[in-house]
Amino acid sequence: MQTHPPGVWGTKVMTPPVTTTTGRFISFEGGEGAGKSTQSRLLCARLENHGIETLATREPGGSPGAEHIRNLLVSGAVGRWEPLTEALLHNAARRDHLQRVILPALTRGVWVISDRFADSTLAYQGYGQGVAHEKLNQMRDLAVGDAMPELTLMLDIPVADGFARTHSRADETSRYEKMDSAMHERLRQGFLAIAAAEPERCRVLSAAANADNVHQLIWQSVCERFVEDARLNG
Ligand code: TMP
Repeated sequence: MQTHPPGVWGTKVMTPPVTTTTGRFISFEGGEGAGKSTQSRLLCARLENHGIETLATREPGGSPGAEHIRNLLVSGAVGRWEPLTEALLHNAARRDHLQRVILPALTRGVWVISDRFADSTLAYQGYGQGVAHEKLNQMRDLAVGDAMPELTLMLDIPVADGFARTHSRADETSRYEKMDSAMHERLRQGFLAIAAAEPERCRVLSAAANADNVHQLIWQSVCERFVEDARLNG
């Protein structure tokens, strides 16, 4: 498994449509404390056991430039950014991540597993912070185009249970975790609405169970979605 972006910095990277690539693009989505990073790690390890090369990445971040933007977004006062500005920053980071890391990896045949992608902006800045969905969709068209994940695993957990998990972690509380619980409730409903609108791409899985059980549900979804890949049955 690669955990660092490949070395394509400073070079011009073409934007092949995802359909011409051989790697697969999977995203994890969900609110705070849903266990996305643990599940992303478990999925990569399982895919590697089946002979599939993977790249574990995340948003905001995932490329050197996007990691700089991440620092601006996750730290500081809750009101540091006006929500539309915040959405633009997330999309700028996403564009860099896609161009410099995700698309080159897919072209090399690597499976890319991203801890968050474009749905997070619609859920957090749209449903959560009230930016008009039409504006967010325009930004997504510009930054992402057709390069959406082929499978999105939405890990769903009640807001209070998710927070109980994040507060027991040692790492610094992020700016988003300081936002009020009504905002987190709205974005949870937002993720469910996104999944209902795109059932082909999205699978909603309860994240309340222990990590091994959630992983089994994820593995089942991956095998169903990519049934044509014989390596998954090996
Ligand atoms: P993380 O905690 O999953 O690493 O993500 C950092 C925070 O960024 C998380 O609280 C959700 C937030 N976020 C957005 O608000 N919009 C976005 O588009 C993305 C990718 C993340």
